[in-house]
Amino acid sequence: MITSATDFDLRPRNTFRIQCHARQWIEFSACDDIPAVASQLSVASGSTLIIGAGSDILFTLPEFPGTVAHSAIMTLDMTPLGNNTVRITAGSGITMDDLVERTCRAGLWGMENLSGIPGEVGASAVQNVGAYGCEAADLIESVTAFDTRLHRFVTLSGSDCRFAYRDSIFKHPDTKGRYIIALVTYLVSSAPSPRLDYGNLAAAFTDTSALTPSDVRRVVMATRDRKLPDPALTGSAGSYFTNPIVATGVYDDVVEKAHAMWGPDTEVPRYILPDGMVKIPAAWLIDRAGLKGVRSGGAGTWPTQPLVIANMSGDCTASDILTLERRISDTVFNLFGIRLGLEVEKAPAEPSL
Ligand code: EPU
Repeated sequence: MITSATDFDLRPRNTFRIQCHARQWIEFSACDDIPAVASQLSVASGSTLIIGAGSDILFTLPEFPGTVAHSAIMTLDMTPLGNNTVRITAGSGITMDDLVERTCRAGLWGMENLSGIPGEVGASAVQNVGAYGCEAADLIESVTAFDTRLHRFVTLSGSDCRFAYRDSIFKHPDTKGRYIIALVTYLVSSAPSPRLDYGNLAAAFTDTSALTPSDVRRVVMATRDRKLPDPALTGSAGSYFTNPIVATGVYDDVVEKAHAMWGPDTEVPRYILPDGMVKIPAAWLIDRAGLKGVRSGGAGTWPTQPLVIANMSGDCTASDILTLERRISDTVFNLFGIRLGLEVEKAPAEPSL
């Protein structure tokens, strides 16, 4: 079924809880609806945006001057393949955490570290969502999408999707907007395979011999609760920035600057990636720049995780958030020589504020 509306209120549809209306709204609940939706989108004037739960979007204007489309495809199929592997094919409109909870309750391993991540199944592939040492790309076998250039459904393998840190083909400038995701197929396992090597996850368990996916889920949720705003109480888009990935020489420069500012014992945290590049936690850079808990109008950095910009007042504006983003971006750049990338997508991309 396809439903549509004009002057549609997007405040409940974005987790920042920013005031915005869409000139046009289209929602579809079946794969078979997508060709008709795609033809409407192509004739619609102005820009088109496909959203999931709106958990990584900043609406930059009071009106989105085009069409916002949303998948409400909720089909779910779980098929055991043998070898302890279960194939899960989920509709793009399913809430990702509902799927995670369901697989955990079924005793299936793979998704438990992704517990509590806001967003829907379709966006899990677009953003390659990740937390606690696990990424959606580790689990995604394929994505079924309607290709608006070829006017037919295509199945993209994990490698076709070109997953990288918070990145995929669905975000690349030449292919962005080309695919309307209908289904995402994940592979999970009934054989115990906990991944507890990130941060202090392992420390939460004295005995890991009889661990269940739900046990890991509980610890991940509790850790998130301690660090991140409760989405029911405070609007945010989770991490606003991505962690910079830099060459070793750039990391060494940051270390040198940190030593000059705070003394030679200052440790700059890093994760060395398999290709030799270095990931530096943006939260550390922002924290050291003195920008933890700072405010710009109704927006502020979260006191226990400054990578998150939150709607602290409940009625902050996009302009409050953009002002804070610029302050953080410029201060970090001036101190460390690193320009932070954004995890949040701006819609429209070029605001005329
Ligand atoms: N840190 C500070 N000060 C702080 C908080 C953190 O210096 O106030 C430093 C510490 O060195 C800490 C490091 O930052 O060890 C990393 O912090 P954390 O473990 O919270 O992870 P992160 O890299 O900041 C990423 C994801 C989160 C995800 C966590 C846990 C990105 C952009 N963010 O944050 O994802 O929950 O790891 O796995 O990769 C999201 O994408 O919306 C999100 C919340």
